[in-house]
Amino acid sequence: MECNMDNKNSQLHASSINYPSHFWAQAAKSIDWYSAWDQVLDDSEAPFYHWFKGGMMNTCFNAVDRHVLAGRGEQIAIDYVSPVTDTEYGITYAELQAQVSRLAGYMDAIGVKKGDRVVIYMPMVPETAFAMLACARIGAIHSVVFGGFAANELATRIDDAKPKLILSASCGVEPSGVVAYKPLLDSALEQATHRVEHCLILNRSQLEAPLQAGRDVDWQTGVATAANIDCVPLAATDPLYILYTSGTTGQPKGVVRDNGGHSVALAWSMKHIYDINAGDSFWAASDVGWVVGHSYIVYGPLLVGATTLMYEGKPIGTPDPGAFWRIIAQYKVKSFFTAPTAIRAIKRDDPNGKYLEGVDLTGLKNVFLAGERCDPDTLHWVEGKLQKPIIDHWWQTETGWPVAANLMGYAPVAVKAGSPALAVPGYQIEVVDMMGEQVAANESGNVVIKLPLPPGTLTTLWQNEQRYIDSYLSMYPGYYLSGDAGYKDDDGYLYIMSRIDDIINVAGHRLSTGRFEEVLCQHEAVAEAAVIGVEDALKGQVPLGLVVLKKGVNTTEQELNEQLMALVRKEIGPVASFRLVSAVQKLPKTRSGKILRGTMRNIADNKKYNMPATIEDPATLDIIRNTLTRMGYADAQVKVS
Ligand code: COA
Ligand code: AMP
Repeated sequence: MECNMDNKNSQLHASSINYPSHFWAQAAKSIDWYSAWDQVLDDSEAPFYHWFKGGMMNTCFNAVDRHVLAGRGEQIAIDYVSPVTDTEYGITYAELQAQVSRLAGYMDAIGVKKGDRVVIYMPMVPETAFAMLACARIGAIHSVVFGGFAANELATRIDDAKPKLILSASCGVEPSGVVAYKPLLDSALEQATHRVEHCLILNRSQLEAPLQAGRDVDWQTGVATAANIDCVPLAATDPLYILYTSGTTGQPKGVVRDNGGHSVALAWSMKHIYDINAGDSFWAASDVGWVVGHSYIVYGPLLVGATTLMYEGKPIGTPDPGAFWRIIAQYKVKSFFTAPTAIRAIKRDDPNGKYLEGVDLTGLKNVFLAGERCDPDTLHWVEGKLQKPIIDHWWQTETGWPVAANLMGYAPVAVKAGSPALAVPGYQIEVVDMMGEQVAANESGNVVIKLPLPPGTLTTLWQNEQRYIDSYLSMYPGYYLSGDAGYKDDDGYLYIMSRIDDIINVAGHRLSTGRFEEVLCQHEAVAEAAVIGVEDALKGQVPLGLVVLKKGVNTTEQELNEQLMALVRKEIGPVASFRLVSAVQKLPKTRSGKILRGTMRNIADNKKYNMPATIEDPATLDIIRNTLTRMGYADAQVKVS
């Protein structure tokens, strides 16, 4: 147990751990059920736990219909703000119900049934939320794929999820211009081995997409004649969605979320963490393709009857670094959520806060940051400029909602720079050494969570229970391995410092270095590749690739680098932000052939490192240091300790 927490928090946390069934049964009262559960927590198949087994409910009913029935039909459910298309409008709960039930009717008419998968590859438009909710309405399992991923990544997810239907759009709109989505979808469907019968395409006015007869249907035409469909009662344990996230290999992990536990946990978090209740305005400036978008653009705010703001734009350049502040003021946003990288971008473009002048932010109560560690400089800058509580909180695609946070709607505790504060009720966080022994306060170790995880967290990986166990549960039996390393201080505050695997975090986006390496090795000139994440002032980390060329390759460095960057962009997508690559004669390896990525990362980031005892050829580190220095990363002065 946390020892030095504030008393009210520590009592709440203790009750969630000591009496989980009672705690979550109380929380479940915020959700409408068709019939109650037989058991709050079923641990008979541990380490697979089932929350609210036997209970029947529907997530869409809880997020939409019940608010209309309760008389909130005229309240705005979604405020849509798209500076890149110069569009702003609100959608009431009644309108949302009409849109979602008709789209569900279309799905039903083409034969999409409970348990079928539906892939959603769409930009930040309200139709993306309609699509998710329509799936939830009929029990189809959605899988949203982020628009910044390339065709090949989409194909991998299509082959894993095997959808009956794909919902997509003609284009997304980025500051750099219109991004055609339909050719990416067509190419993904060609690459995938799974055959998709139906595609519903939203044609946006910025770019019309040609439709393929027999497979593609225009969105408006498809829903025009569809019947309104009611919510289908589902088991709390039925899957709601699959969300793919980067693992250490090129094959993404399909995180599975259930219906009942998810609704209960998100509703609890909206109130206790984000201090958001019915009628409040909440804005998570993320993308629906990420877990933040799933939980806190779509489901969380709607489950509690709040107004959610959906934003198609960037923190800067659309049109300027004042965009966030003006929108918060205009839409009376009470709690705002973004990533530290967005704050760093604003700080870079408006260091003195000129764009805050004259903007009335009195309605804004809290700013939440997540997606990557919030470095103290960024925290202090934004605290100073906004004069509001800035709340770092830590979570992952897998957990679906915060693991460590400051409960701003319950009993806020002091903010400590660099820390996401305390374990959230339901999560028993421990910091352990390689043997699984808890380390002392202020000592670093692997951050693990004692099983069972609370409601709303992943139930398994899609059709791959073994990978779920191998990835998360086998290293420390009885515990979930978060993949993050950090420490707790004397007051029990958690500090998340780095990943323990080959995942990197680029502008709050989680990417696998293994996937980058696979792609680089596809190039005919490349014999071997290593990719590491190096520190970046704006994006937190960026990928840096080092390649060993095949013998006899005849190409200039510039030519090769351009080809490799283009290849990564084509295969992974623009979101990879891959701009740093160099050829080297040899990579540093252990005698058993393992590439020493951690050592290279320390050299690049100017951190002290130990000469690995098992290194095959110590001279390779000099090669790497010289290359990284030439690329502007390593400082030749840093010594081996
Ligand atoms: N569809 C298509 N392309 C997309 C896309 C989408 N949904 N999202 C991003 N891209 C493209 C961008 O256009 C850009 O392409 P470019 O190389 O042609 O310019 C590339 O992917 C990288 O985009 P991004 O990561 O947004 O970087 P940026 O340099 O354009 O902007 C920031 C930098 C910091 C402003 C931006 O990363 C940002 O707003 N970050 C916030 C992150 C966030 O919300 N994370 C979610 C976790 S909470
Ligand atoms: P994702 O699954 O994309 O949400 O990425 C989750 C990972 O991002 C975590 O495992 C951490 O490595 C990192 N992360 C997210 N939020 C924080 C935070 N507040 N502090 C430190 N790291 C974070």
